[in-house]
Amino acid sequence: MSENTESQLSQRIDSYLEGLFVPEDTVLEQALKDMEQNGLPSINVSPNEGQLLYMLAKLSGARKVLEIGTLGAYSTIWLARALPPEGRVITLEYEPKHAAVARRNLERAGLSDRVEVRVGAGLDLLPEIARNGEGPFDLFFIDADKSNYPGYLEWAIKLSRPGSVILSDNLLRNGDVLKADIKNEHGSANDIIGRYNRQLATDPRLESLIIPLNRGHVDGLGVTVVRS
Ligand code: SAH
Ligand code: DHB
Ligand code: MG
Repeated sequence: MSENTESQLSQRIDSYLEGLFVPEDTVLEQALKDMEQNGLPSINVSPNEGQLLYMLAKLSGARKVLEIGTLGAYSTIWLARALPPEGRVITLEYEPKHAAVARRNLERAGLSDRVEVRVGAGLDLLPEIARNGEGPFDLFFIDADKSNYPGYLEWAIKLSRPGSVILSDNLLRNGDVLKADIKNEHGSANDIIGRYNRQLATDPRLESLIIPLNRGHVDGLGVTVVRS
């Protein structure tokens, strides 16, 4: 099969699954529109991946969620909806403009009382969360700047309990990660993600796998549980 046909097939399958399983949802559709109108990049999770996040949050029985990288709160809405009524999400976002769009979308989704958007660099906000004793969290979604993933993972582990779930987006990078130079300490984001994947596979504190997600291009969601 030519590469083009393969990519078209993967898009058709993605649409098929979305049509079958992802309910029509005006709040989520409006959130995407609002992001576009405000010039935010279209780098949110897909509807199918959003539903996967929702399902993993439900299956794990999560009540306290920490997300790193909010954008317009599209993934945040999926995660927050999976929680029981007393559930809470803290989501970290560096760009004030993204945070403003996110807060509006959360308001429209009726989730403002469950979700707190904090503005700042993840690596500045995470130590504060630890100092304030706001952990442990049941589930983490790491989806901000790729070169800081190793730092985010260490903070997630510090803020976890045995059995906590750590989800990491964009671990396959349309196959670019196959070319990563994992020995290069000061490498590109791609090299860093290559090393990150290796850490997920080998760190004795963790058990992990990566779910490949096909949507025209291939990316992957890391699924990790913190060992007892
Ligand atoms: N989780 C979102 C997409 C996040 S895109 C969704 O799927 O809907 C990545 C976001 O991380 C962007 O909004 C970007 O501004 C933010 N970001 C980049 N660097 C950051 C940092 N150092 N700390 C926190 N957020 C950061
Ligand atoms: C990018 C970031 C993401 O989190 C994503 O899911 C896709 C793309 C990016 O920075 O290009
Ligand atoms: Mg992502």
